[in-house]
Amino acid sequence: MPHYRRVGDVPPKRHTQFRSPDGELYAEELMGSDGFSSASSLLYHRRPPTALLAAEAVEDGGDDDGGDDADLAPNVPLLPHHLRTTELPAGGDMVTGRRLLLANDDVRLLVAQATEPSGLYRDAAGDELVYLRTGSARLDSSFGALDCAAGDYVVVPTGTTHRWVPTSDQPVAALVVEARGHVGPPDRYLSPGGQFLEHSPYCERDLHAPGTPPGAGVAAPGGPGAEASNGDGFDVLVRQRSGVTRYRYAHDPFDVVGWDGCLYPYRLSIHDFEPLTGRVHQPPPVHQTFAGPRFVVCSFVPRKLDYHPLAVPAPYNHANVDSDEVLYYCDGDFTSRKGAGIAAGSISLHPGGFTHGPQPGSVEASLGRDSTDELAVMIDTFAPLSLGAAARACDDPDYPWTWA
Ligand SMILES: [Fe+2]
Repeated sequence: MPHYRRVGDVPPKRHTQFRSPDGELYAEELMGSDGFSSASSLLYHRRPPTALLAAEAVEDGGDDDGGDDADLAPNVPLLPHHLRTTELPAGGDMVTGRRLLLANDDVRLLVAQATEPSGLYRDAAGDELVYLRTGSARLDSSFGALDCAAGDYVVVPTGTTHRWVPTSDQPVAALVVEARGHVGPPDRYLSPGGQFLEHSPYCERDLHAPGTPPGAGVAAPGGPGAEASNGDGFDVLVRQRSGVTRYRYAHDPFDVVGWDGCLYPYRLSIHDFEPLTGRVHQPPPVHQTFAGPRFVVCSFVPRKLDYHPLAVPAPYNHANVDSDEVLYYCDGDFTSRKGAGIAAGSISLHPGGFTHGPQPGSVEASLGRDSTDELAVMIDTFAPLSLGAAARACDDPDYPWTWA
């Protein structure tokens, strides 16, 4: 996230004395990515963010629908899968209620259908990209509150202490991408100085970030984190590669009076992604929205279809060499796989090494069509994905044979 923001009170000079109205020094916290060699932000807390009271290991799922990597099964025999995620039970929160579907060493893909507020949480292993398919939710963090709705991609940087609070009556159905590194716009969309270029399908005006620091104007301990206090302190779940730890802090991690920098959570609505179209079928990279370490994220949005007089609008059969292809079907009519049982909330996995294409008959049916209303999110990973217990629980056993 290369764009500088300043929110709330910060002193004119970095790393100089900055005091509250009653004369107390604020505590600086520098969040720096890539070992302080990339984007960073400087936050000013009312109390030191370091006052750790306790730490304990936490069980990371492990039951049939949990998030345990030990439950992963390789995709053998090599088959496509259709995961009917809406059949998984709804409930729980966006952090502990997420269910692990697919994973490799680079990325974990999970779904949630949250109805409750989560506790405080941060992912120390990488950025999290959360796509909301239904409902709405507020992301509270040390940077402030961010209201999010269906269609939003939300990028939560590594190490950001946050919690999710559903704000809709219906469950918040979300796809959670847990990266092992940083997620951002593809480099080719950006100028050397980090500005979005004219050919980018979205730009700075489409990105939204917290505008008020959570501790501004609030008596200490202050901030929405106070709601997460258990009376003895503030519990924060911390995910790292080797597991999950529960920390207890003396002070509210959201007691921030100001911050500035280029590292903060932000959202992009998929409805602000401007599709690039052509006379003949355009390849998936024109739909790319984000890049992560050894995976990409693409948005398939309502758009005009190919306008060559002899165009074939349905996608061609293809072997996705070097990648596993995951599609999260969100809304609209999924004509290319009509008859295969795909519906909103479905996830398909078309693995590398498996040649696939449109549903038989849908090429002919697509001729002459001039638009599509499909809405889908695609994650292509460059290493093979294994299946979690929740994927096996909602797998459609008939899907591999729907091309026959
Ligand atoms: Fe494909």
